[in-house]
Amino acid sequence: MSTADFAARSPFVHEGIRKVVRDITPSQIREVAHLGMGRDNVVPLWFGEPDQPTPEFIRKAAMDALAAGDTFYQPNAGIAPLREALAGYMNGLYGTGLAPDNVIVTVSGLNAIMVTLQSVLGAGDHLVTTSPIWPNIVAIPQVLGASVSTVPLQADTSGGWQLDVQSLFDACTPATKVILLNTPNNPTGWMMPAEDQAKLVEFAHARGIWIVADEVYARLVYNGQNFAPSFVPFMREDSRIMVINSFSKAWAMTGWRLGWITAPAAATGELEKLMEFNVSCPAGFVQQAGIVALRDGEEFVASSRDRYARSRKVLVERLSAMPRVMLPEAEAAFYAFFRIDGVSDTLGFAKQLLLSEGVGLAPGEAFGPEGAGFIRACYAVSEDRIHQAMDGLERFLAKN
Ligand SMILES: Cc1ncc(COP(=O)(O)O)c(C=O)c1O
Repeated sequence: MSTADFAARSPFVHEGIRKVVRDITPSQIREVAHLGMGRDNVVPLWFGEPDQPTPEFIRKAAMDALAAGDTFYQPNAGIAPLREALAGYMNGLYGTGLAPDNVIVTVSGLNAIMVTLQSVLGAGDHLVTTSPIWPNIVAIPQVLGASVSTVPLQADTSGGWQLDVQSLFDACTPATKVILLNTPNNPTGWMMPAEDQAKLVEFAHARGIWIVADEVYARLVYNGQNFAPSFVPFMREDSRIMVINSFSKAWAMTGWRLGWITAPAAATGELEKLMEFNVSCPAGFVQQAGIVALRDGEEFVASSRDRYARSRKVLVERLSAMPRVMLPEAEAAFYAFFRIDGVSDTLGFAKQLLLSEGVGLAPGEAFGPEGAGFIRACYAVSEDRIHQAMDGLERFLAKN
């Protein structure tokens, strides 16, 4: 049943729901996925998640904690050993001097975005971000009553995605409270270079605008680096910068719902209060698994990155061999975001492709107007699956 079908059951009830909530479009990615779930022989590349379960050593840590009775409420900011481990993890990666007080453990990256934005954005405020973009990043400010402007990423002639930082500055108004950057980016794989980050930090600081950086794909880079350029090294105790992160992608922990916020200590005390009203805390046994993921998980992070790099290579080769496909180059996250000549309604295309060939892709419109005409495929899966999906796409394109 669609949202409209449910609404029709009682307009009186439905109209009692806040307009900003009613106005949000339900996820078009889920619309395709719901059509395909339960069907046989579907190759699902629609969601952004690895196809393999969380490694055994991380699952065991949670099971041991549960067996030991770790079933109680935990501190709002997260348990002390995990906050310490996260500060240590980031200091190790970025050479920073963060303390546990700079970290709030959250119930996923998504919860981290919600709590972060609740702390700095209210009704009538304005947020600037880029587009195409993961739809939740636009929906959350809208739920909070704020307005959103998106600045387009451009697919340039050499094939990569580019952002003119000046266009971000130009989109700011006196009401702008936040510039939110998702880098590495879902769906394009674009990363903001460190020189542009420095320019942005200077601009935002001078105007008192917060930079919120969603870095949940920080470890998924395929240019030989161990991590993407991050805003964490720019953070000082007196800077308005907060960074969102998650265990979901790099440690294959999407279903666990564990993430964190890195922020100046003057902000984390306030974020801690908001955690109470949102979720109280992440589950204790999940946090114990997070500690083990950080302590023993580097080999897993590196080997999954190698695996995704191999699948990415196959996907890029297969897509590049299709005459109607244009795929801008990207070196991060785990998505191919490509355009097919002659296809404008990508939601309709994704549904037909699914029904006809059993290939599940995400329609570009889901990522905002700049995503129109594009299709997203997640390559955090085996090379075999990529081949199966590409065989189906090729067959479909030959007929349509
Ligand atoms: C850009 C971006 N941010 C945040 C998230 C949230 O991840 P999670 O809530 O699983 O930590 C996702 C998940 O797809 C994402 O693509």
